[in-house]
Amino acid sequence: MLEDTSFAILPDREGKRRKRDVIDIGNMLAFSCKDEVLFFRCDAGVVNVQFYDHPIVRVAFNPFGETSMKTSRAVVMRPKKVKVDVHETEEQVELASPQMKVVVKKRPFRVQIYDQAGRLLVGEEARGMAFTYEGDVYCYKGMDQADHFYGLGEKTGFLNKRGEKWTMWNTDVYAPHNPETDPLYQSHPYFMTLRNGWAHGLFFDNTYRTIFDFQTFEDEYCFAAEGGPIDYYVFAGPTPRDVLKQYTNLTGKMPIPPKWALGYHQSRYSYETEQEVRELVQTFIEKDIPLDAVYLDIHYMDGYRVFTFDRNRFPNPKQLIADLKQEGVRVVPIVDPGVKVDPEYAIYQEGVRDDYFCKYMEGNHFIGEVWPGKSAFPDFTNEQARSWWGDKHRFYADLGIEGIWNDMNEPSVFNETKTMDITVMHDNDGNPKTHRELHNLYGLMMGEATYTGMKKLLNGKRPFLLTRAGFSGIQRYAAVWTGDNRSFWEHLQMSLPMCMNLGLSGVAFCGADVGGFAHDTNGELLARWTQVGAFTPYFRNHCAIGFRRQEPWAFGEKYERIIKQYIQMRYEWLPYLYTLFAEAHETGAPVMRPLLFEYPDDPHTYNLYDEFLLGDNVLVAPIMTPNTAYRAVYLPRGKWIDYWTDTVWEGGQYHLVHAELDKLPIFVKQGSAIALANARRSTDMPDEQRIVRLYKKCDGKTAYTIYDDDGQTFAYEKGIYFRLHLDIRYDENIVRIDTKTEGEYRPDWKLSFAIHGGMAQTTVIVDGNEQHGRWDDKQNILWIDHN
Ligand code: GLC
Repeated sequence: MLEDTSFAILPDREGKRRKRDVIDIGNMLAFSCKDEVLFFRCDAGVVNVQFYDHPIVRVAFNPFGETSMKTSRAVVMRPKKVKVDVHETEEQVELASPQMKVVVKKRPFRVQIYDQAGRLLVGEEARGMAFTYEGDVYCYKGMDQADHFYGLGEKTGFLNKRGEKWTMWNTDVYAPHNPETDPLYQSHPYFMTLRNGWAHGLFFDNTYRTIFDFQTFEDEYCFAAEGGPIDYYVFAGPTPRDVLKQYTNLTGKMPIPPKWALGYHQSRYSYETEQEVRELVQTFIEKDIPLDAVYLDIHYMDGYRVFTFDRNRFPNPKQLIADLKQEGVRVVPIVDPGVKVDPEYAIYQEGVRDDYFCKYMEGNHFIGEVWPGKSAFPDFTNEQARSWWGDKHRFYADLGIEGIWNDMNEPSVFNETKTMDITVMHDNDGNPKTHRELHNLYGLMMGEATYTGMKKLLNGKRPFLLTRAGFSGIQRYAAVWTGDNRSFWEHLQMSLPMCMNLGLSGVAFCGADVGGFAHDTNGELLARWTQVGAFTPYFRNHCAIGFRRQEPWAFGEKYERIIKQYIQMRYEWLPYLYTLFAEAHETGAPVMRPLLFEYPDDPHTYNLYDEFLLGDNVLVAPIMTPNTAYRAVYLPRGKWIDYWTDTVWEGGQYHLVHAELDKLPIFVKQGSAIALANARRSTDMPDEQRIVRLYKKCDGKTAYTIYDDDGQTFAYEKGIYFRLHLDIRYDENIVRIDTKTEGEYRPDWKLSFAIHGGMAQTTVIVDGNEQHGRWDDKQNILWIDHN
């Protein structure tokens, strides 16, 4: 009997565990400066402050040892040389860059960060930085009544994250995805605050389980971690666009995706045989429904062994992939991290032989159950393991595969904790750390290994990577889908704020499983979801094993027609989208934007979760309830043109909008321009025309730029791209367009202008030459063919 032993007097039994004491950092004792870093010695340790750039400042404090200026793998920026003015008084030390000011109060030590205009961004009052001797760290900041919080990656719930507490710990959640389900697959310990129209950002660079608490205190929020330092960066903004730029300068920009990755993708868990895949693609062709990729879920493998094909189900993958490619369809196989424990399986043999698998300190492998049964997991924190894993993708590249789907990379393990043992010791490139510390990085590092490997193997072609798990910075390697949602209208609704907040967290390339993954979808839901999917950055229909099929034709002619129409529209809108992806690559601005991104001074937008902007001037307001043909749409200031009817709607107010099942409400801001194309069966088919639609207003100026390049190589990085800048001036009866090209690439397409809102007599002058237009009196559009 245990009770007969000293176990009877075990401390902390029966919930008597002592409440952990939270210790304040105390007073500042001294400060010094070396190599651009300012060191503040305090009662409880040293705080380092460093300006990374004029609008980015970093504050780091390790209460348990030396404060280091190392960063996690999320950060790619090296600090710039910033001239900092230092001014000390009895009470405080002031540090000023040209765009920010940090005021350090000495007693107690508290940090206040201001922007250029003297606005307080983050401030500490009653509490500041604190910790427990058990290793928890806390940072408290003042919270204004006017603060709204966004970002935090992939979270359920509404747009504004205020009033909730959020955890970062990558977790496989098959069910449910409810408003309180947290955490999910991704960790982005980053948020943007919007206060009275001004925005700033905060990134907490800590890879342990972290908590963001916007709930517990009335006038303070707190971010905390189970271990590691307090290490955060503040981005001065002042616009949401500036914040995204600053944050993605720090954590990296996304590459421009290959064009085929922006087309329509069809997936299912699983298309189980070569025959099934061929028939699927054939049906798309016969029905003339555009398609760019088909996904192979876990059944393609031999016993779920990654880097293999089941030769009974897929006798000739190379031929299949080549034949599909002929039709403009790529194959994207799933690759999970779990490697089947099988002494006769080469990947397992190599991993063991060369010591690439995750191990305990004592030397034994961590073995967990996933699809293949008992599996070992590559240690992606080890450079050699990463390059081994990357090289292994030769198996796929040699078959003609250009896209990979990483799943289960939280990592997911079928056990109580749902993941790897936290005592596993990762190599961490020679600086060993526990899984408890590096868990949240596993997906990011797998992404790095896969993307880098594929990039090498594709000889200059752009790889496409899709991932479920990730950490801040994942945008450098992968698109993100929001995991195992369900075929519920509620999940369609939830996908909007989720994707918008992912976008505000630097992940511009994201989307949800169209139609819903688990549960049976229905024709109406699939039609409405496809309308949304066509306008979200990543567009894939995916469905789980055992549920109703949900290919575009699964619910009969009535729905098929609508679904096809919207998949075609996706292809019409690709030039507009592609330009936005180029912008995301350059500036970090999301493709799918909450309205507050463009209208941060309009309080109506602050929690508007059920409509979004595509770029700056296109507003999409989907219907997301069954049997519904009307909805309220908020249009921000300005005038908005109904994309379908050219009706002019007054902004700055709500409207009741009518939209039968075949209609997705879309509005374009008056005065702006959008570049569209003709629908094609695949992005591999010839792209012959650009139609720039101009939505004329009485007078005023506007500018629009179309971006294009070869869509498949990295030549754009060397200036081989094409930018067509349009400067547009509207007068009463005249439209003047001045064009300017930039870059060395020349696309094949012909350019036409479609002037909406003009008249037959409207004069159009392009580059000083008056043009002869064609007046379409049915649609009231004046057409001008250029070049
Ligand atoms: C996970 C993924 C899902 C996939 C399934 C089988 O549930 O999230 O997309 O289809 O695993 O691989």
